[in-house]
Amino acid sequence: MPDSEPGSEFLRFSDLLTGYRISAVLMTAHRSGLFACMAERPASSAELCARLGWDSAYGQRLLDCLCALGLLAKKGNRYDFSRCAQPYLHSSSPCRQQQTLDFEQQLIDSWSQLETTLQGGKRIFAADGLPPEELHRARQRYLGAMDEAAGVRAGELWQCCPNLAASGVMLDIGAGSGAYLREFLQRSPGWSAHFCDLPDIVAAEDLHPQLHPLRARISWCGCNLLDDGPSDFDRIAEQSCDIVLLSNVLHCQSAEESLRALRKAAAKTSANGVLLVHDFFADADWRGALYDLHMMLNTYNGTAPRQSEIVAAACRFGLPHHSTRHLPSGSTLLAFARAEEALRAFDPQISRNGR
Ligand SMILES: C[S@@+](CC[C@H](N)C(=O)[O-])C[C@H]1O[C@@H](n2cnc3c(N)ncnc32)[C@H](O)[C@@H]1O
Repeated sequence: MPDSEPGSEFLRFSDLLTGYRISAVLMTAHRSGLFACMAERPASSAELCARLGWDSAYGQRLLDCLCALGLLAKKGNRYDFSRCAQPYLHSSSPCRQQQTLDFEQQLIDSWSQLETTLQGGKRIFAADGLPPEELHRARQRYLGAMDEAAGVRAGELWQCCPNLAASGVMLDIGAGSGAYLREFLQRSPGWSAHFCDLPDIVAAEDLHPQLHPLRARISWCGCNLLDDGPSDFDRIAEQSCDIVLLSNVLHCQSAEESLRALRKAAAKTSANGVLLVHDFFADADWRGALYDLHMMLNTYNGTAPRQSEIVAAACRFGLPHHSTRHLPSGSTLLAFARAEEALRAFDPQISRNGR
């Protein structure tokens, strides 16, 4: 059980026990279209309940609960988004999380299979054997949800490295929708980048539409990191990249496979470069441990990596210096370098806080 203040242990226990209730309130509000109605303008309980087909007394109780949870705020007799939740719930906000909410709805079904999955030793839901069009739609839903969350997290990640050189080469391995690459290139106009992902993801331009305006600075590399045959990845010279990013990629693989991916990423990191591993680590905190179960339920053999194993492996692959940063949204950023000086130049907080 996560730490709790002395005397509040039972409260912590109760909150863990009933955590699903909060999620049910949020997901019901989203599914029923409440947030879409409210995006037009703040509205009274009577108006919202009439539009959504809710009983007026019951509906008002749900709206008041959403206020108590900090998602809505009541001004006079009208309900509006709270200041904190508005960026994520309003449909015209650049940080909106609508596809993330839709995707989470899909995941609820797999979480209901946790016990069966534990007994079977393999996941119950699988996309294997989907016809190509359905597989593409599933990828659009998955990368769309990733992209919304990544839009928020990418800002946090690149804020950790304010002292970058004026120019350089960045390699994003498992770039997905390209949210981290986009944010990086927008902040670093003198840099160019390699977008690396599975060949199908690279080829489908509609999966990363927001990269189109930046394409003159991007080279495309379709490869399967777990396949040792010849691929576009070989065209990127060893030790030629100043920043190599593995964001939320290692957890897609088994522990042994993720070390193979890490070794390939390390090999591309230049003498004064840094390798960034951004992920949810199973041994970091309860969010990481839950993430590991999320992988158990929803991937073929994905496993949230263990920070200690990644640090030890990076050392074996020639990157003995590292720093750790916990980002505000709950993920962890590990930075690795061949030379301590390179790490210090990259992350000014290291000299102040130690490792
Ligand atoms: C969870 S997404 C992360 C996307 C993005 N980096 C982020 O942090 O939001 C994982 C990405 O890694 C890619 N990927 C997974 N296994 C891979 C492999 N064996 N070789 C190349 N890319 C892979 C997936 O196609 C997907 O785009």
